[in-house]
Amino acid sequence: MKFTLQQQETLFDIIAHRRDIRGNNFRSKKIKKRYIKLILDAALHAPSVGFSQPWKFVVIKNTKIKDKIYNNFTKEYEKSKKYFRHRELYNHLKLEGINEAPINIAVFYKKPTKKILGQTSAKNMGKYSVVCAIQNMWLMARSLNIGMGWVSIIEHKKVCKILQVDKNYKLTGYLCLGYPKIFPNSPELETLKWEKKKKKKKLISWI
Ligand SMILES: Cc1cc2nc3c(=O)[nH]c(=O)nc-3n(C[C@H](O)[C@H](O)[C@H](O)COP(=O)(O)O)c2cc1C
Repeated sequence: MKFTLQQQETLFDIIAHRRDIRGNNFRSKKIKKRYIKLILDAALHAPSVGFSQPWKFVVIKNTKIKDKIYNNFTKEYEKSKKYFRHRELYNHLKLEGINEAPINIAVFYKKPTKKILGQTSAKNMGKYSVVCAIQNMWLMARSLNIGMGWVSIIEHKKVCKILQVDKNYKLTGYLCLGYPKIFPNSPELETLKWEKKKKKKKLISWI
């Protein structure tokens, strides 16, 4: 299959216009199940070390479960404030969308039970594969004009307990999905002057 210039430009547009969407920007509009399935199918097309496909996805709509996760976020967010006391802005950032997003998806890495091709020297390759799957979801969602946000200020072991997953599964990403009010042109943390965009020439060397 060969792609046209127009398709190549579209892919770049989807990549460049992907944003992390948080609770201050989600609408309550529900996501059709076929779109959720498409986003999960995109995840299943991700590359994985030794084609191990070491992932598992739990789709969460249940508000009681979301509440439990949100409570854990609140606790962890409070604890994290000590690291940023010098930056008052941290107390005002919205860093999740657990309750506002109609759908949450927890993505897990399953520890292998046998030797995996490609994972004999670097044991993190399986986890990296799961992150590739998450990026596929983020981009597929964006192409459907659905926003996604990654919530990492949670106790990963506690979330596994809340979701009652087998102990061989490690939480890799906790994602919130829904339609946003807008897709901002720049990362919110850049707009709020939390971080600056790094210069391309400092990030890439040609040798
Ligand atoms: C591994 C990972 C974890 C993240 N965790 C959080 C988080 O806990 N809360 C949050 O608001 N954003 C989180 N983000 C989103 C980043 O803040 C965001 O990607 C970054 O600011 C750039 O903005 P953009 O995604 O809109 O381009 C996370 C992103 C990644 C890749």
